[in-house]
Amino acid sequence: MKFFIDTANLSEIKEAQDLGILDGVTTNPSLMAKEGIKGKDNVYRHYKAICDLVTGDVSAEVIATDYKGIIEEGEELVTIDAKIVVKVPMIKDGIKAIRYFSDRGIKTNCTLVFSAGQALLAAKAGATYVSPFIGRLDDIGSDGLELIAQIKNIYDNYGYPTQILAASVRHTMHLIECAEIGADVATCPLSVITSLLKHPLTASGLETFLADHKKVNG
Ligand code: E4P
Repeated sequence: MKFFIDTANLSEIKEAQDLGILDGVTTNPSLMAKEGIKGKDNVYRHYKAICDLVTGDVSAEVIATDYKGIIEEGEELVTIDAKIVVKVPMIKDGIKAIRYFSDRGIKTNCTLVFSAGQALLAAKAGATYVSPFIGRLDDIGSDGLELIAQIKNIYDNYGYPTQILAASVRHTMHLIECAEIGADVATCPLSVITSLLKHPLTASGLETFLADHKKVNG
């Protein structure tokens, strides 16, 4: 399973990249706003800075919601860097735009996906990635992981090449269960990735090893 980091924070992206386990980055307008990035030039410069830090795909979300606007914005976004993937919302004009981009070899990430039917449409339109939001479904009493399993089953049935990018991942169990189901990618905050490192038996075991070594070696 590929690991993407879900942030627009450059130091967090660099920390994940330096760990040697990062496969890409996802951003969204809220994450860009959280970093205080405003104005088109600054936003595009920030995407370029992210692309310069990593080796994998970087999802940049369009703001337009009409077909023509999405196409214009997407075509401009991909001029920033070859790593840019155009992130398009799951709406009617978004699906049409994904088909347009797909026909021209431009990578897309269909975002804000909350049902298997939406994921099926994204695959039919030729999306590179589909982003079902696990945590936000859990928040309203649905089962986000169940949706990942449903999409995996449907895509396997027909051999759709669209990659399942599990999004809105809130904790390590989300990540582990996505890997068990067979999601292609999981995107999450840095804290979720680093939490995978932790186990109390690792900590106590290391403490004992080092203490025993010190007893003999001083
Ligand atoms: C996905 O690409 C989104 O940026 C993200 O995962 C949303 O997560 P949230 O529900 O924690 O905001």
